[in-house]
Amino acid sequence: MKHPLIGIFDSGVGGLTVLAEAARFLPAARYLYFADSGFAPYGEKSRSEILERCFKIADKMAQRNVDAIVVACNTATSSAIVEMRQRYSFPIIGMEPALKPAAENAHDGTILVLGTAFTIREPKYQELLQRFQRQREIISLPCPGLVNLIEAGGKDLPEMNARLKQILGDLPASNISAIVLGCTHFVFLKNNLRTIFKTNIEFFDGNLGTARQLVRMLAERGHVCPEASPEANTPRIKPQIEIDTSGERHHVLFLCETLLSELMNNQIKPFMPMNND
Ligand code: DGL
Repeated sequence: MKHPLIGIFDSGVGGLTVLAEAARFLPAARYLYFADSGFAPYGEKSRSEILERCFKIADKMAQRNVDAIVVACNTATSSAIVEMRQRYSFPIIGMEPALKPAAENAHDGTILVLGTAFTIREPKYQELLQRFQRQREIISLPCPGLVNLIEAGGKDLPEMNARLKQILGDLPASNISAIVLGCTHFVFLKNNLRTIFKTNIEFFDGNLGTARQLVRMLAERGHVCPEASPEANTPRIKPQIEIDTSGERHHVLFLCETLLSELMNNQIKPFMPMNND
């Protein structure tokens, strides 16, 4: 049986959190991951710059005959998903801040959405916000600087919590019950946020929904994935992952390997970089 080849990309290492979730459902699939760290952060770029990067990365993945691409980035999805779906014949799966599941499931209290400046101001998110702000109190907060720190490998450094506290201001003392991690990089910051909020915060991200959507889209295209259930995956098959980056190779590949091992409890095969011509 031929296992599907899935392309996943982000402005950097954030999309690894999506890759880890996809690999729980589809451990026998083959993955190409591209960390566009040389052009991060997308959240501070223009729409046309982001679109150009998305086409460049996806064109290269298309040449490798991927069966689907996951845009593992809320910012890139807001800017490029429509054009990407027009350009490629295989499924393109995008992401948006998980405000719907949060609004429907979070306990009483205010929902805090953390995203990039770009995602928060784009019409796609503003429409989503309008749908739910009648039923819940929602605060949307752009978070400049965090992506760069994570890309530098600093999620566990004291600077990260200092920067987070600066961005959050008085919010940790208010009635926040849930946080939507509306940027895939921020999924790495759950522990930092738990420390700062000191209360039982519920977290919502789009990763599970994205992985499920990927499984559905592949199934519609005839890719039967009998292993497509995280519960069924014990003992785990180690997914085959190839990683490449536009950033400083040694640093980014080492960071990817470290973060992926954390996310997947070391259940990864050693990966090889993609052909970077
Ligand atoms: N990880 C990305 C997202 O989900 C973007 C971060 C950035 O490059 O600004 O939005």
